[in-house]
Amino acid sequence: MTPKEKSDPRLDQLDPAALPRHLAVIMDGNGRWAKSKGWRRVKGHEEGAESVRVVVRACRRLGLDALTLYAFSEENWARPKAEIEALMRLLGRFLKSQRQEMIERGILLNAIGTIDRLPQATYDLLQDTMAATSGGGEMVLTLALSYGGRQEIAQAARLLAEQAARGEIDPSAIDEAALAGALYTQGLPEVDLLIRTSGELRVSNFLLWQIAYAEFHFTDTYWPDFREPELYEAFRQYASRQRRFGQTGEQLEGG
Ligand code: IPE
Ligand code: IPE
Ligand code: MG
Repeated sequence: MTPKEKSDPRLDQLDPAALPRHLAVIMDGNGRWAKSKGWRRVKGHEEGAESVRVVVRACRRLGLDALTLYAFSEENWARPKAEIEALMRLLGRFLKSQRQEMIERGILLNAIGTIDRLPQATYDLLQDTMAATSGGGEMVLTLALSYGGRQEIAQAARLLAEQAARGEIDPSAIDEAALAGALYTQGLPEVDLLIRTSGELRVSNFLLWQIAYAEFHFTDTYWPDFREPELYEAFRQYASRQRRFGQTGEQLEGG
């Protein structure tokens, strides 16, 4: 930790025990951020990439186990070709520029989604970076790329059906754990907190199964403006909530 980080008063206000273990973020509003300034949408994606760097660094410093970022949805393939190309270029730039830092900070890079749909060069770079960071044991950074929650559940069902057809599993043994184990997110902790920026109040096909008991944090801030103060505010609000998981408040308080 650098002295500057240590003396950050906003950090001191956060109780480490009350932080989420797994944060998931729908990073939305890049286009509107740029438009509000009279700039091209791509400028918003560029500035959004800087928010990604800041948030990854902060989450690692705070000791989160997992951070999952919605970077490109299955549905985003319907965007104009030039915008898709710009996003892929930015992803490549992000992977190249963060590789060393991820290795140094013990961050393991992971990807979920139909990543074989990515352009070959992006796909190769992604595989290469994941391999280079595979020794990271401090935090898992998962990028959801060409990701759709329904598609993920469908492929999990397909996988289990194939195993059953081969006689490897008994259909009656297919329970929640088996389904969870067939998802792309297999092995990751439960999502504790889901943040969506830009004022939209929807989930847009993100982690449908995994957010069953997540806390939600919606903010009007556009993603390029979402930096440490906004992240800390989300964590502060999260810490003040009581997660009851079906029980009563009295049960949890031992009353
Ligand atoms: C989020 O910002 C980034 C991606 C979906 C890739 P948007 O590009 O959706 O920005 P808005 O919602 O149009 O403002
Ligand atoms: C969700 O944002 C996908 C990502 C953040 C990558 P969108 O901007 O694509 O969501 P909708 O289409 O407005 O719901
Ligand atoms: Mg959007």
